[in-house]
Amino acid sequence: MDYLVKMSTPAEKAMATGINVDLVMIDGFVQSAMIMDNLKRLKDLPIRGDDIYLCTYPKSGTHWTWEILNMIVTGKAEYAKHWQNSAWLEYRTKEELEELASPRIFHTHLRPSQLPDAVWNQRCKVVYVRRNAKDCVVSFFSHFSKQIWKDSTLGKHIYTGSWDDFIDLFLNGWLPGGPYFEHTFEWTNLSEAHKDSEICRLQYEDMKKDCVNEVRRMAEYLGRPLSDHTYQAISDACSFKNLKHANEKIKDQTYHVHWQDGSSGYFRKGTTGDWKNWFTVAQSERFDKVYEERLKETFPY
Ligand code: A3P
Repeated sequence: MDYLVKMSTPAEKAMATGINVDLVMIDGFVQSAMIMDNLKRLKDLPIRGDDIYLCTYPKSGTHWTWEILNMIVTGKAEYAKHWQNSAWLEYRTKEELEELASPRIFHTHLRPSQLPDAVWNQRCKVVYVRRNAKDCVVSFFSHFSKQIWKDSTLGKHIYTGSWDDFIDLFLNGWLPGGPYFEHTFEWTNLSEAHKDSEICRLQYEDMKKDCVNEVRRMAEYLGRPLSDHTYQAISDACSFKNLKHANEKIKDQTYHVHWQDGSSGYFRKGTTGDWKNWFTVAQSERFDKVYEERLKETFPY
């Protein structure tokens, strides 16, 4: 990445490395330019006390968890009509968000400090899902190398650079979804202002191991306990295979963004540990070093 030295901002450097969406710096971090105006408006979004916020770093199982939350709220293992992007907090307009029926189940890739204060003041329910960073970066790379942004006039994939450079973009926090380490650090160590908030913390890998138990935990946290039979039915309806089928064949496709091969590429493999098929030993060691420095923990998977 030596050719990047002359460029001034990380956003410019990321675009020069092959990210083909407009990036800007917001509060010192790289973000997609598309959310700049919405972020300002978000601060004044009228919050409802029964809103539910699903918070994830991109590629951490957001679609999966969002569908589970919808089923818990309706008490039935039936798919929501729309794709989860219908309720994407930082991408939808204020009007679109206000049209959603209560309880609204938003999903967002924002950090806690970027959410409207009212989310915390009104003690809205907040569900946070974390996924191991190496599987996240593989999933992100696969996504960005295949997806063409719906309204893009470029006709290019979101990312057209190399896998090796993509690892650095991720480690540097220069991807459009925001910085992984700050995101994970802030959600794992809520600031003094939010530390008394009760949030439901989930780990993608635990959901893979025992989804029924994690569905139960979410339902109890939301104050909407259901029967064991319903927990099992929700877990089954949201298995990788069933949810992929539902998103491709059953759901209304309005909010499904465009992929090269016409598939719903959001449902790629749905496994844990795929990173071992992608990282070289040198890449993995480079990754571990930054991971340990930034999160003060050893990479656990
Ligand atoms: P992979 O690319 O590793 O397959 P998000 O919804 O946050 O964009 O996350 C997408 C990742 O979650 C993808 O990971 C996708 O396959 C995986 N995923 C989606 N539904 C899943 C499910 N029901 N069970 C397990 N993983 C799932």
